[in-house]
Amino acid sequence: MTGAAGPAAETATGSACDGATGAPREPEPEPEPAPAPEPAPQRLSQWADWRWLLTDLDEVYRRSSAGGSAIIRSHQKRVRDALGRLMQSNPPFIPRQPESRPVTAHLPRALDLAANGPLASMGRTLSRVAPELAWEYGYDRMPGALASRYAFAELAGPRGPVASDEVILGLVLFSPGAVYPQHAHEGIEESYVSLAGAWSENDAAVYAPGSLILNRPGQHHRITVGDKAPCLLAYAWIGGADRLSAPGMRFGKPPRKA
Ligand SMILES: [Fe+2]
Repeated sequence: MTGAAGPAAETATGSACDGATGAPREPEPEPEPAPAPEPAPQRLSQWADWRWLLTDLDEVYRRSSAGGSAIIRSHQKRVRDALGRLMQSNPPFIPRQPESRPVTAHLPRALDLAANGPLASMGRTLSRVAPELAWEYGYDRMPGALASRYAFAELAGPRGPVASDEVILGLVLFSPGAVYPQHAHEGIEESYVSLAGAWSENDAAVYAPGSLILNRPGQHHRITVGDKAPCLLAYAWIGGADRLSAPGMRFGKPPRKA
């Protein structure tokens, strides 16, 4: 028998018609492509300059004097213990989208000063990671003049770039002549390490590069900066994980004494 239009004939000719009705057959759906595998999270060990930066910070907290203060010595130990655990754990590294603010026009000068100061190693390492820094303000409400004179960039913390839930490390940059209004950090112990510029806190002293200044939790402080150079500080915050993940930065005056 010839001219039969059975299934065998369809298969042989590759016909796209329904054998019974002659209507075009729906094409077979393409199989879904397999999802691409998730990229492995990046780790600190893959970012050599960032690891050296933490090493430089660790050196500062290990070698700088506590000036005879048991409270400062205890803070230094807490920071370097946290840093030691952080580096030992080879934590995730979460690259940030680089961000600038008006004050970062002064960053190259501040880094030049830092690289020629007592913390030169950290200053040079910072110059290498500077293109990867995300500078921000951190406050919902901020005095207008401050927006062109201040910004900070985090180095480590719950938001990265180096992931940590027990310490926040960062940089704060001020333009010459800046005034950083009264503020406090509830539940967070803060130290500043001076890298460049001359500045004062609460009109109590003038701090030069190499100085370490401790602000205990809730202690109000106001910063003024000399007018001859920008001021670059590294800072470390030690506190509970809940506080570090939502520090709630705001300006305010200290409560009046009864
Ligand atoms: Fe502060």
